[in-house]
Amino acid sequence: MFIYKSTPSTIEAARVAAAAFTKTYSQEVYEDVAQHLAEGSVYTIFDGVSLAGFAIFNMADHETLYLAGIILRPDVQGQGVAAKVIGMAREETGAKKLMLRTQSLRMWSVGNKLCHFWYPNPKGRLGYYDHASWIGALGSPPFVSYEDKSKIIRAFYGGPLYGQKPTHRNRPLQKWWDSICDFDRGDAVVCYGEF
Ligand SMILES: CC(C)(COP(=O)(O)OP(=O)(O)OC[C@H]1O[C@@H](n2cnc3c(N)ncnc32)[C@H](O)[C@@H]1OP(=O)(O)O)[C@@H](O)C(=O)NCCC(=O)NCCS
Repeated sequence: MFIYKSTPSTIEAARVAAAAFTKTYSQEVYEDVAQHLAEGSVYTIFDGVSLAGFAIFNMADHETLYLAGIILRPDVQGQGVAAKVIGMAREETGAKKLMLRTQSLRMWSVGNKLCHFWYPNPKGRLGYYDHASWIGALGSPPFVSYEDKSKIIRAFYGGPLYGQKPTHRNRPLQKWWDSICDFDRGDAVVCYGEF
């Protein structure tokens, strides 16, 4: 897989997006992709033959990398490609934190694997910092070096973003995700963490 900073053609990107979101290709998908491609620095993922995906980043603040969008062709999903692209953007920007907005537990999982702290998470109450467990674990008063910015935005997308719900094989994790993110209502989860 080749990953480099460049913007793919909108039509090619829109076709990949339709497949990735299990939707039929439409003018709406095209316009949505065109808008996303203009939202930041774009990385192209190329499999040597055709477009395999793309990702868009910008900086939410001087140390927080915001993943404005990432879309991989279905046949390249589940192979850790998202982590590679985020790693490249992290290196380029020197970002210390990551932020993204999603309806997909698979996307949440990418951040969870990359970040030391990742919110929200099943252990916290909607990602709020749990002082008590830190005191117990460290045996001394904790210092809070981290501000949790995760949140759920109700009905943000106005309905499901995907033709078919992207689920995760970890059932308990999926149950937790469904308890905080109503897929059919179009809730969006803002995830936030520290690399
Ligand atoms: C979400 C997405 C960007 C994740 O990138 P990725 O490179 O596939 O991420 P990973 O390989 O690390 O997979 C993340 C987890 O999801 C699971 N997963 C990913 N794709 C999957 C698939 N097609 N079917 C079943 N499980 C899948 C992986 O097994 C992995 O599980 P783990 O938590 O046990 O490690 C990518 O799957 C994708 O493009 N999906 C469609 C578009 C989308 O949802 N974009 C994000 C919008 S915010």
